[in-house]
Amino acid sequence: MLPLKSGATLREGGTPLVESRLKPNLWVKFEGANPTGSFKDRGMALGVTVAKEAGANKVVVASTGNTAASAAAYAARAGLKAYVVLPKGNVARGKLMQAALHGAEIVVVDGYFDKALSMVVEYGTKAAYPLNSFNPWRLEGQKTVAFEIYEELGCPDNVVVPVGNAGNIYAIWKGFKELGALGLCKKLPRMIGVQAAGAAPLAKAWREGLDRPLFLDEPRTVASAIKIGKPINWAKAFIAVNESHGMFIEVPDSEILRAQSLLARADGLGAEPAGATSVAGALALDLPGTTVAVVTGHALKDPDVVEVKTAQVSSEAELLSLLEK
Ligand code: F0G
Repeated sequence: MLPLKSGATLREGGTPLVESRLKPNLWVKFEGANPTGSFKDRGMALGVTVAKEAGANKVVVASTGNTAASAAAYAARAGLKAYVVLPKGNVARGKLMQAALHGAEIVVVDGYFDKALSMVVEYGTKAAYPLNSFNPWRLEGQKTVAFEIYEELGCPDNVVVPVGNAGNIYAIWKGFKELGALGLCKKLPRMIGVQAAGAAPLAKAWREGLDRPLFLDEPRTVASAIKIGKPINWAKAFIAVNESHGMFIEVPDSEILRAQSLLARADGLGAEPAGATSVAGALALDLPGTTVAVVTGHALKDPDVVEVKTAQVSSEAELLSLLEK
C-alpha cells in the first residue's frame, strides 16, 4: 500500500495501542513512541526517501517543532542537509533541542507558524526539497497508523485526532478508506478533529455550518504544536470529516492540560499538550462504539508545561514519616 519498498527508515510505526482506563471503549494509539517522539516520523520516512531518490541534497520545513525534529533526524539518516524554519518563541524546548542535536540548520522568524510556512511555500521550495504536509508523500506515510489500528482492533467506530495544519486527519482517513476499498473495513470510522479553542479555525467554522475555515491571525494555545491560525490542508480535513460523517470540536487549554494529566496518571502515557488534545476531545464527547484517540507527541517534547512539585527531607526519619503518611 506504500509506493516504495525501502528507504530512509528508523523503524517508525508499530506504536502501542493501549486500552485506556479513562473511559469504557476508549483506546489510545501512542504515537509518542516513534523514533523522534511524534507521528511525523511515519511521513518523514517516506518524504525523505523520495527526496533522496529525486536527487535532492537539501530539505526544508516550516514547523511548530515536531516536523523539524523529525526532518532533522531522517535527513541525517539519509545524508541530506535539513533547514528548519521556526516561529520564534513558539517552539517547545525538547523539539528545538532535537533539531539542533540532529544537525539541522535552525532559522527563526518573528510571528506564528503560518508566517514560517508561507515563507517556505513561496521561497524555500526554490532551493530545497520541501517536506511540509502539502507534500503528498508525508500523508502517504502517515496513513499507516490506520493500518496498525485495523490490525489490532479492526475498524473502530470513531477516530479522534488533534488538528493543527490539518494533514494528519486526512492521512488517517485515507488509510481507512483504502482498508474499506479492500473489503477489510465494512464500516468506516467517523473522523473527529479536535482543535484548541484559541486556535480553532476549522472547529469554529464547523460549528457555524460553514464550508471554509475562519482563519485567524493570532492563534493562542498552550498546545504549541497546533498553534496554527491558517491550516494549509484545511480542505482535505473538511473532506475527511464530511465523508466520514464526523465532526470538528474545540477544547479549552484547561481541558487539554487536564487530559494530559489524566492520561499520564491513569494510563501511564506521557503526552505533550497537542497530543493530549485528542483525549480531551474523547472525554468531552459521548461517542457510541469503540473510540481510538491518536496521541500524537511525547511529553518529553515540552518539559516546561508541567509544574514540578517536590518535597524535601533531611533525614531518614523524615523520609520514613513521609512514606508512612
Ligand atoms: N499533534 C502534534 C504533536 C503535532 O506536532 C501536530 C503538528 C499535530 C498534532 C497536528 O497535525 O498538522 O497534521 O493537523 N505539528 C506540525 C509541526 C505543524 O510543525 O510539527 P496536523
